[in-house]
Amino acid sequence: MLASGTGTLLGALIEAAADPNYPARVAAVVVDRDCRARQVAEVAGLPTTVVAMADHADRAAWDRALTDAVAAHEPVLVVTAGFMKILGPAFLERFGGAIVNSHPALLPSFPGAHAVGDALAHGVTVTGATVHLVDDGVDTGPILTQAPVMISDSDDEVSLHERIKSVERVLLVQVVAKFVTKGVVSDGRKARFS
Ligand code: GRF
Repeated sequence: MLASGTGTLLGALIEAAADPNYPARVAAVVVDRDCRARQVAEVAGLPTTVVAMADHADRAAWDRALTDAVAAHEPVLVVTAGFMKILGPAFLERFGGAIVNSHPALLPSFPGAHAVGDALAHGVTVTGATVHLVDDGVDTGPILTQAPVMISDSDDEVSLHERIKSVERVLLVQVVAKFVTKGVVSDGRKARFS
């Protein structure tokens, strides 16, 4: 799993994976900075690696280091949740088709790093959560599942994001289980569980 944030989505996967009937395990957590997600992983006894952009000569070197750090764990699936960097070509070449990202909006509306604030600023009354395959665009990959979240007049970015994240946690746990048990068929534009 790749993360840079507070790690509540990671926490949900760790909790799900503690059930012997859940079909996946979290192999390792790779972060690009010191963050709460790293602590969540360490408390759970998972291997963690920091691959910081600042420790590498350029983006290409960082991309290769990130690829190697993840490949060392031979994952069936890479999950990105709150990972605040765009994945590079080496990473996509190695893991393409087996990377899922959770995004706090109903894509293709409000892609990018400010999805929750953008939805509020736009005045939409419904936003939501999307889990999608990662391609070389920003939140453009084929969609695997989505769920709506209503926006109320009293919402601010924090309250809305918390409600969306509670939906993201449920969707992500479901998607990871389906991905590893059924597999995904994608034509690059649309994706379905097979
Ligand atoms: C989630 O909303 C994710 O979609 C977004 O960052 C948040 C991560 O939350 N990109 P957490 O760090 O797992 O609590």
